[in-house]
Amino acid sequence: MLLAMAPKMFFKIKHNNLTSLLGLFLYVFGVASAQLSPDFYNATCPGALPAIENVVRDAVANESRMGASLLRLQFHDCFVNGCDGSVLLDDTPTMKGEKTAPPNNDSLRGFDVIDRIKAEVESLCPGVVSCADIITIAARDSVVALGGPYWTVLLGRRDSTIANFSGTIDIPSPFLNLSGLISAFANKGLSASDLVTLNGAHTVGQTRCTIFRSRIYTEDNIDPSYAASLRAICPASGGDDNLAPLDTETPTVFDNDIYQDMMMEKGILHSDQQFYSGGSTDLQVEGYSDDSEAFAVDFGDAMIKMANISPLIGTSGQIRLNCRKVN
Ligand code: HEM
Repeated sequence: MLLAMAPKMFFKIKHNNLTSLLGLFLYVFGVASAQLSPDFYNATCPGALPAIENVVRDAVANESRMGASLLRLQFHDCFVNGCDGSVLLDDTPTMKGEKTAPPNNDSLRGFDVIDRIKAEVESLCPGVVSCADIITIAARDSVVALGGPYWTVLLGRRDSTIANFSGTIDIPSPFLNLSGLISAFANKGLSASDLVTLNGAHTVGQTRCTIFRSRIYTEDNIDPSYAASLRAICPASGGDDNLAPLDTETPTVFDNDIYQDMMMEKGILHSDQQFYSGGSTDLQVEGYSDDSEAFAVDFGDAMIKMANISPLIGTSGQIRLNCRKVN
């Protein structure tokens, strides 16, 4: 009995400490976040947030996976040159954008929805709301639309005038082991705990056969019947773009099921299973699998922390009129 309770008790203590530590970190080092603010558009574009929420809600009602795709955009924007909207820039004859880089090519989605949002806010208040801020608001609204937690987004980011194709190397590969995943996040000022929390985003959305093939054919820390069911979707060769859900039970609901999946060796990505593989993050996974509220609170905090990675503020960058191209 005591043994069964131990992980949960440990987790509760750890969670409280982490929350205070996060607060302290943001207070001491939160130079950028100190200049971002939740009411940045209150005077200049009061209709922006409701308009964004409407477009996101419609898009998710039309296709629930779109919520997952919009959530992922924040991660892929913020990990390359900071949260500056660079991921949204199309290629030009003189600049290769990030969209065709390996982590994004044929994989990242949601650009049309961002265009619709941008057109809407431009009609309300031209030249005011940045594409970088739209990404962070759309990510939050997507999670809410899928039944997940609400958090207050900090705003005031500006948009980059360049993209960084080679910078996409900073987005961690799903073939990394735990230590590699932890380093990739540490390089962005995010802790191992933030990593486990943010990876909970895989409670929604889909992945391609080409990404999980080696996991289901060559790895042994996978539930055998789960692997067999995935092999029916993903042949040993061919069918690279066939899709399977990241979360086995509820891929269109933002919940904590993915942590249960990890404990049952049903992580579909090699990286997902790393968080429950006898290493330092096992206890956090157990804690979240058992405490959806703790996961929900931590997830919002970690999304805010990720959205604070090197924003452009003040007079840096610009407010792009079209998120796909520099003004
Ligand atoms: C440990 C680091 C992470 C790795 C290695 C990773 C890797 C991946 C991979 C390989 C896919 C599927 C891509 C495809 O098959 O085309 C994916 C999908 C996804 N990722 Fe991650 N990811 C990580 C962290 C995150 C974070 C931090 C978020 C957001 C907070 C996120 C949100 C998503 C979502 C929502 C999807 C599904 C997207 C859709 O269905 O369109 N991931 N991720």
